[in-house]
Amino acid sequence: MKIAVLPGDGIGPETTRVALAVLAAAGEAHGFAAECTEYPFGGNAIDSHGDPFPTETRAALPHADAVLKGAVGGPKWDTGEIRPEQGLLALRAELKAFANVRPIRMWTEKLVSPLRPELVDGLDMIIIRELTGGLYFGPKELTAETGMDTCRYSVEEVERVARYAFDLARTRRGKVCSVDKQNVLSSSKLWRQVVIERVAPDYPDVELSHQLVDSMAMKLIEQPLAYDVIVTENMFGDILSDLAASISGGIGLAPSSSLGASRPGLYEAIHGSAPDIAGKGIANPTAMILTVAMMLRDLDQRDAADAVEAAAIHCLEHGPQTPDLGGTATTDEVGAAIAALVAKGNA
Ligand code: NAD
Ligand code: IPM
Ligand code: MN
Repeated sequence: MKIAVLPGDGIGPETTRVALAVLAAAGEAHGFAAECTEYPFGGNAIDSHGDPFPTETRAALPHADAVLKGAVGGPKWDTGEIRPEQGLLALRAELKAFANVRPIRMWTEKLVSPLRPELVDGLDMIIIRELTGGLYFGPKELTAETGMDTCRYSVEEVERVARYAFDLARTRRGKVCSVDKQNVLSSSKLWRQVVIERVAPDYPDVELSHQLVDSMAMKLIEQPLAYDVIVTENMFGDILSDLAASISGGIGLAPSSSLGASRPGLYEAIHGSAPDIAGKGIANPTAMILTVAMMLRDLDQRDAADAVEAAAIHCLEHGPQTPDLGGTATTDEVGAAIAALVAKGNA
């Protein structure tokens, strides 16, 4: 398998390096070779190429089976003409990665949630965040006097991501909650109409509910166990998934895949470049390692994916742990412990 690796900025490279060591250990233990090539992307690529998504990186994508990306961005590039985050949106658009799959799980009951344990015990939901439409991609304007972003969705954009969510629900507990703001927004009125009229009739076996996004934020705190698959537009999904990651033990644990109709898929942890801890060697690499597990599963290396996930969970239960989880271990120590378990095949 060929993996295009975009290490990114801040804790991006720190966590990606460790995740690649786990991938290599999985390859040895399960008999596959991952050919990983790094490409410039993000803030570092602005520095080296004047472009967060340089031509050489773009040209490599069609040859890759998967793209593994570390977080990008940081204060150094916050005020520049061009930002790392623009490169990320261009990458998602280039890959037509319209479905961002964000599993939110209580990976082990030993994790500490800010919520009472009985509210999150066994938590297992997946947020499907629409990723190539909405406010992020609609017409924009910034003048000295006004700033404008436009939330625009087409029937096709809503339908394909909703179908992804319904198909996924069929493999799980058979429940979809569609989140919108249809009491105010036209884009949300269309969203709900498409979900009800064009998608749900094909899935009579899936239980569909709807929730306005403001009360969804409340419900996710008060009764997160009620949810199986959540599907929502780009910006709502961005916000709700950080909230959901927090209640399941922390943002340093939350992986994701960003998928279109064909390969390569894009694999990225949901957290950012964490400028407050970058360079200290203490970032939690678990989100990136679980992201590698998602990538391996999609590349049909299921045993390897299970082994990586099991090793990461074993480490969450028995340590070592980084400071965000109350431990004193470094990123490298956690990564080495997980890689060793994967190599031994006894996670
Ligand atoms: P952030 O996710 O980087 O950090 C929020 C908080 O979570 C910080 O306190 C940070 O230390 C902590 N945190 C995040 N990941 C962690 C990990 N693996 N281990 C331990 N602690 C972790 O969010 P932010 O501060 O709002 O954003 C910082 C930068 O990252 C911004 O430039 C933003 O645009 C960018 N960003 C990039 C991505 C991406 O590339 N996918 C995602 C989100 C944010
Ligand atoms: C994420 C991030 C990105 C987003 C930013 C960095 C553009 O927050 O992947 O969740 O908003 O999609
Ligand atoms: Mn985000």
